[in-house]
Amino acid sequence: MLKGKDLISIHDLSADEVYEILDFAADLKVMQNMKIPHRYLEGKTLGMIFEKSSTRTRVSFEVGIFQLGGTGLFLSSKDLQLGRGEPIKDTARVLSRYLDGIMIRTFGHDRIIELAKYADIPVINGLSDLLHPCQVLTDLLTIREHKGKNFRSMKMAYVGDGNNMTNSYLYGAAKVGMHLSVATPANYKPNAEVFKNALADAEETRAEITWTENPIDAVKDADIIATDTWASMGQEAEHDDRKKIFAQYQVNRELLSHASKNAIVLHCLPAYRGEEITEEVFENNAHVIFEEAENRLHTQKAIMALTMTD
Ligand code: CP
Ligand code: NVA
Repeated sequence: MLKGKDLISIHDLSADEVYEILDFAADLKVMQNMKIPHRYLEGKTLGMIFEKSSTRTRVSFEVGIFQLGGTGLFLSSKDLQLGRGEPIKDTARVLSRYLDGIMIRTFGHDRIIELAKYADIPVINGLSDLLHPCQVLTDLLTIREHKGKNFRSMKMAYVGDGNNMTNSYLYGAAKVGMHLSVATPANYKPNAEVFKNALADAEETRAEITWTENPIDAVKDADIIATDTWASMGQEAEHDDRKKIFAQYQVNRELLSHASKNAIVLHCLPAYRGEEITEEVFENNAHVIFEEAENRLHTQKAIMALTMTD
């Protein structure tokens, strides 16, 4: 179903495609753990364009394509002609003649749309200012591992900045029918168009999607709590102001006392202790958070194997 397609937003996927990725990721994780060869992309090459920093995305994609029998090329925009002004549409048409897939991490989401429009190979969104779909698909896999497969019975809360993670959580929850309550300051809400689209998707799955300014209301009886940095890549200059604005949105012991007793905490990483999460809450949930980080590998292998296959 996903063969030859781009993976730019969870909103573009059908619910079946989301489950296909999660199921295949779980299978690949077993194969990896049991050392069963799974060279689905023998001889294929993935180009990985980075216009922003990365630890997890870079390493998990590069190791992932290698484990699938292919090769990954790390392409920093600082070294590409792209960084000197070569149009993205020309880069797309050139790379399509060498590669079998492109992963891109960039600022403006429209750059990914433009790349995909002109590339005739699958384009995977490795994070834009608007969305981070690979991370949220990974989080859905992690939630399934810890809370079971019935997303419709779960409540998730996101507390913090209404950023690319929040936007992708909205699309992910709406697609699988999970109750999601988002708490952000009024001036830092998730993207309005994403919120509208998520509500439309949620009509089909009957997911309850809500926004509040009050973190306690959001986490009430939640089974899963997620947060992310208060200052995303590109917002470094706002860091000090944001620390003050988001002070009431820290995931700490007091906030968690309002959640379900066995709630798990997710963090896409990197985490800033003492800001969006306390050291105590982070370390109490480290087993889940680092499983989540590992799951990037399995989820992205599934995405690559399903989209880049012949
Ligand atoms: N979570 C995540 O995408 O991490 P990196 O920025 O290290 O890739
Ligand atoms: N919101 C963060 C996510 C990092 C993985 C950022 O864009 O920097």
